[in-house]
Amino acid sequence: MPGKDIYILGIESSCDDTSAAVIRNNELLSNITANQNIHKRYGGVVPELASRSHQQNIIPVIQAALDKANIKKNKLHAVSFTRGPGLLGSLLVGTSFAKAFSLGLAIPLIEADHLEAHVLAHFIQEPGMPSAVPSFPFLCLTVSGGHTQIVLIRDYFDMEIIGRTIDDAAGEAFDKAAKIMGLPYPGGPFIDRYAQTGNPQAFRFPKPRVAGLDFSFSGLKTSFLYFIRDRLKEDPHFIEKHLADLCASIQQNIVDILMDNLIRAADETKISIIAIAGGVSANSLLRQTIMDQQTLRSWQTFTPKFEYTTDNAAMIAISGYFKYLRKEYAGYSLAPYSRSIRS
Ligand code: KG4
Ligand code: ZN
Repeated sequence: MPGKDIYILGIESSCDDTSAAVIRNNELLSNITANQNIHKRYGGVVPELASRSHQQNIIPVIQAALDKANIKKNKLHAVSFTRGPGLLGSLLVGTSFAKAFSLGLAIPLIEADHLEAHVLAHFIQEPGMPSAVPSFPFLCLTVSGGHTQIVLIRDYFDMEIIGRTIDDAAGEAFDKAAKIMGLPYPGGPFIDRYAQTGNPQAFRFPKPRVAGLDFSFSGLKTSFLYFIRDRLKEDPHFIEKHLADLCASIQQNIVDILMDNLIRAADETKISIIAIAGGVSANSLLRQTIMDQQTLRSWQTFTPKFEYTTDNAAMIAISGYFKYLRKEYAGYSLAPYSRSIRS
């Protein structure tokens, strides 16, 4: 006899997106995200405004996720939420809501780690459309606005970070380069778009050398800043005239830095099942470069669907599902954490 279906509500509120998702076992039924446009005019996320917007968005977003999944809240078996890392004020909104929801419905509360969840997004299935998932062990390059990590995944919740950034994250490198060129926030998607028609070899920028499998992006940002400043002195229209080439070149540089270490990590660990995750995994050059390795290096690669690259609650719901199966429930006294608690 088949086991009974498990329905989990996932809530993500770690940064500036309020998201809710409903999953039936490992199959996603809904994933609704309210983006906060309010930050665009400030060129970055303003924490106080983010938490206020989460408070306004959280109930309608959860209701929309339940409606789309076509289930009533009393059918849920558990609620999972992002405990951290992220902005404390933002995390508090999701955490408090999840606790109250769990108490009100008398269902288990499950905490999810945002970075683990980005990796676990690879296990989300669409109803009736089973797709291949990575087998253990595999490597995941998790690249977002706040983090850049190479993670060795031995099991769902047995993950070891074997490389990390020592300063800026890859997404920050994209966003800061975009800001220097006067592009809106977040700049990663704009660089990606303008780069489509540019020459990636037009301009060369430094590639920092860092020990082991770690990354560094702050030097690149500084040299890009000085490069643009010097060229603007000679020609005030330099950026407009060369926007596509600048975007293509800086994007190539960031992807090269990421790939150099990922290739070394694969060689050193002798693992050839490779995934990418996080907001920067939406980048078309990174996706293409990863896919090219299937033939070049005989890697088996996994690129997430676009809707699971940037922050989303589907990944929190799937994390919740795997923890529910293990009966790993959270207590009501737990507090969110702002920085990564994993080694
Ligand atoms: O995972 P995410 O949504 O939030 C964090 O947890 O940080 O990642 C957001 C980051 C931003 O830095 C954004 O510029 C970057 O992902 N990003 C991209 C692209 N789409 C989003 N970077 C490069 N190319 C893209 N297409
Ligand atoms: Zn994220």
